[in-house]
Amino acid sequence: MTAPVIQATGLHRHYSISDGMFRKPRVLRAVAGLDFALSPGKTLAVVGESGCGKSTLARMVAMIEAPTEGELKLDGKPVLPSDWADLRQSVQIVFQDPYGSLNPRQRIGAILQEPLTINRPNLSREERESSAREMLKMVGLRPEHFDRYPHMFSGGQRQRIAIARALMLDPKVLVLDEPVSALDLSIQSAILNLLTELQDRLQLAYLFISHDLSVVRHVADNVIVMYLGRTVETGPKEAVFETPRHPYTRALLSATPSAEPATRKDRIKLSGELPSPLDIPRGCPFAPRCWKAEDRCRQEIPELTGTLNMAACFFPEGVSDA
Ligand SMILES: Nc1ncnc2c1ncn2[C@@H]1O[C@H](COP(=O)(O)OP(=O)(O)O)[C@@H](O)[C@H]1O
Ligand SMILES: [Mg+2]
Repeated sequence: MTAPVIQATGLHRHYSISDGMFRKPRVLRAVAGLDFALSPGKTLAVVGESGCGKSTLARMVAMIEAPTEGELKLDGKPVLPSDWADLRQSVQIVFQDPYGSLNPRQRIGAILQEPLTINRPNLSREERESSAREMLKMVGLRPEHFDRYPHMFSGGQRQRIAIARALMLDPKVLVLDEPVSALDLSIQSAILNLLTELQDRLQLAYLFISHDLSVVRHVADNVIVMYLGRTVETGPKEAVFETPRHPYTRALLSATPSAEPATRKDRIKLSGELPSPLDIPRGCPFAPRCWKAEDRCRQEIPELTGTLNMAACFFPEGVSDA
């Protein structure tokens, strides 16, 4: 097995929320203890409902925000904010809405060359331009697109531009935060295919974030199911999809028609809403919504256990790894 390019241990991110001048600020735990490893050429998908901390995780891995606690390593070395400027070239992020991150007054050629202008001052103008043109081709755009502005493109094309820009500095890791969630279904699969192709070609590691399990099923090698800032289930994609062990994973799968295991016809409807990360329930955070919860679940936090797909549950579904 190749050494992981990213390794996270006990990652937390807390926000201090003040309700008013005289009240004590409260602590919002957006990410509450995550461990994972990401290998070159592989995709680790992170799934969970909106508000469970996925984008916060993305920002930490992309070195936009520092963890409150815990450690991130890149190529085995701790990532410290003092080194971010150097390390950021290796980890690039692509957001759901590329339009928001593309300067509307810059032509595509300039957008693609900008990372080189800033980070590769020794390159000549011609070298920068030819790299940008090559990248345009690599993401499936045409040479004449070089001189156009972002508003002249469709959503899918703009996401291609955002991906191209993210690749200009030859990163090892792409953090993809809901990269296809704003796109029509047919465009989604074109972008997912492009990502797969680029991954094979460049041995990129993807941290792929999505609330949509049918998308994850297409791209993931490994999956983390996140709930209120924690991993409730993790493992190889096949195991998580075919033999989910955490009730929350089952509920998510059951709500995703195309991702539902063929053997399981009973649908599960998740009751209630995601609790506020300002007030994470005691014990298993999923217990208040879980149909299997017993007293123990409301008192103790279950550890991740299992050998293939691991679940943090005292009463996991049919044992897949016996
Ligand atoms: N900068 C911030 N300040 C305060 N709370 C935040 C901040 N960023 C995210 N949160 C909160 O953290 C929780 C997780 O948010 P987020 O990571 O965006 O979840 P997701 O991407 O899974 O929808 C939410 O309750 C959100 O309101
Ligand atoms: Mg998000």
